[in-house]
Amino acid sequence: MFITFEGADGVGKTTQMELLRERLEAQGQEVLLTREPGGSPIAEKIRGLLLDRENDMDDMTEAYLYAAARADHVRRVILPALARGCVVLCDRYVDSSLAYQGFGREIGAQAVWEINRQAVGRCMPYRTYLMALGRQEAERRVRARGEMDRMESAGRAFAQRVDEGFALLAQRAPERIMVLDAAQTKEVLARLIAEDVAKLKTCPPDGR
Ligand code: TYD
Repeated sequence: MFITFEGADGVGKTTQMELLRERLEAQGQEVLLTREPGGSPIAEKIRGLLLDRENDMDDMTEAYLYAAARADHVRRVILPALARGCVVLCDRYVDSSLAYQGFGREIGAQAVWEINRQAVGRCMPYRTYLMALGRQEAERRVRARGEMDRMESAGRAFAQRVDEGFALLAQRAPERIMVLDAAQTKEVLARLIAEDVAKLKTCPPDGR
């Protein structure tokens, strides 16, 4: 089962992924926790290029670099882990490209999907948890974490377009994307996610 976590920076994805991992492992399930951009050696190098504030690049170059990192991660890490029977939990995936590059950079979701089609192939998440948080609170949390990376320093208008992009993606794919109010306590969020995952195992969203 391939599950992704999405949302703006600072919404608490990593915490929820860790909590779900613990829960699944306690049930005897093998779990792979991974992230994008990154998750494989070359993709981690590309991550360095993408997040380094010293690097200035064209928006299309940025979109292709995220997709290039994804192609390696999918083929070398995600698909082999799924084949071994692991549950794969991934911190961001193609929805982030659609939201950040498609909406945030205004390249357009369709153009970004075209770039990603080959990278993703048939490897689409079974379930995506979109953690949504008000812009002010998300900004407060990012600032509290310390120094901001290249994407986090792209400004408020950019971040707002990303938020709107995520919301639109969720509207378009309600059978896959579950929106969670990230302002709730981490315990409540963990319970909502755990209950949903338990249901997924017995009743997959699209009848697979
Ligand atoms: P992330 O690892 O979530 O950063 P952090 O740990 O600081 O929250 O993601 C790095 C940044 O890359 C984040 O701002 C979102 C952005 N991003 C894209 O713009 N497109 C993508 O396809 C992905 C996967 C991430």
